Amino acid sequence: MSVEIPAGLTDLLKGYTAEVLVQRPPDLLEFAVQYFSSLKEQRGAESSARNASRSRVKRAVAFDEDTVPSDSNEEEDDKEDYFPDDFTFKRSGSRVLVVCAEPYNPDDDEDDVLQPKVIYPKTDQQRSRLQEACKDILLFKTLDEQFSEILDAMFEVHVKAQEHIIEQGDDGDNFYVIDRGVYDIEVKQDGVNCCVGKYHNKGCFGELALMYRTPRAATIIASQPGALWALDRATFHRLIVKNNAKKRKTYEAFIESLPLLECLELSERMKIVDVLGVKTFHDGEQIIKQGDEADCFYIVESGEVKIMIKSKIKAGQSSPRETEEVEIARATRGQYFGELALVTNNPRAASVYAVGETKCLVIDVQAFERLLGPCIEIMKRNITSYKEQLVMLFGSSEDLKH
Ligand code: CMP
Ligand code: CMP
Repeated sequence: MSVEIPAGLTDLLKGYTAEVLVQRPPDLLEFAVQYFSSLKEQRGAESSARNASRSRVKRAVAFDEDTVPSDSNEEEDDKEDYFPDDFTFKRSGSRVLVVCAEPYNPDDDEDDVLQPKVIYPKTDQQRSRLQEACKDILLFKTLDEQFSEILDAMFEVHVKAQEHIIEQGDDGDNFYVIDRGVYDIEVKQDGVNCCVGKYHNKGCFGELALMYRTPRAATIIASQPGALWALDRATFHRLIVKNNAKKRKTYEAFIESLPLLECLELSERMKIVDVLGVKTFHDGEQIIKQGDEADCFYIVESGEVKIMIKSKIKAGQSSPRETEEVEIARATRGQYFGELALVTNNPRAASVYAVGETKCLVIDVQAFERLLGPCIEIMKRNITSYKEQLVMLFGSSEDLKH
């Protein structure tokens, strides 16, 4: 006798099981009642929101017809399966965290195995522009041979000023790397669109909806004509999302051991793993330059860094001399640096150098703001101690030279 499993049952139970594993409730039955009741409420509220967003124009990007292969294999697949209803938006100050109630397991994805490689031919000039745009993309930093497959699959997209590349609430189609242009990030807060940040000629966006199968979490608008490199959803899944499963295994224990991230739930810590990059620096290499604009945050995975500061010493005072850098601190495995400029929105307050071969986990400013909001209080306590340290060293923390 064959028994037909009703559509959605497996996903429903998987979502519940995952929440049980994360939250470990003492009473499973009571937790089930709460879990399924709140899921039902969410679905009611979200299906009306989604109906409204679906009626909007989906693709705001003008694709270059010549570069899109005619035999594109990306099916217009069943969007209901791809974007499950169970997501919530959780607010933390001005930051919006996208919480996916149902963790995605890429190993369950049979479609990916069948998906053929996509190749968009490029001129030498296009290829070198693409390589330049992708060289600092953190999501690509942990890939090996898949990186060149990604470059093959990317295609160029030209955008006009005021064009909406991504609309919050829509389904995800592509991931984008910026070639050039300025892009506003807008997030709806209490029904009003608020600009929460900008990309200036570099960076990437559009990974969240593809990683977690959630609706787009922000609207991205070109504020001037620009160019982007796009990667289709299927290739993103096959190469990046699958690589993230490996990354989680590699970094889960380390990330869980970090006191800074203790205030985050496990699922939020895993989201940090999904977006982090890994960079290795050789002995003496400068990681951060005092006075530079900041675009990322670092956690030391192995090795050591020294933090050096230039002080504005007034005439007549003894050493250190005006241009001399003074070592003020060191950070080793599990410690972080580069948060100050992101929290205060100032230029880098110190320079940081590798001591011996040093490996750091790197998180970009957008992910830092989106995911590390709850840890800011802990960081602020440290920042207070920086000031005390500088007063001890230089007599005043105002005398710092950017
Ligand atoms: P995605 O949700 O796929 O589409 C919108 C993108 O905006 C999102 O992925 C992120 O890449 C990017 N983004 C940048 N800042 C934020 C933010 N504060 N909240 C949500 N998304 C953001
Ligand atoms: P940021 O200013 O972004 O870049 C330099 C980093 O050095 C800074 O963030 C801190 O993480 C770190 N740092 C450690 N000690 C100090 C200190 N006393 N003053 C300033 N920065 C410090």
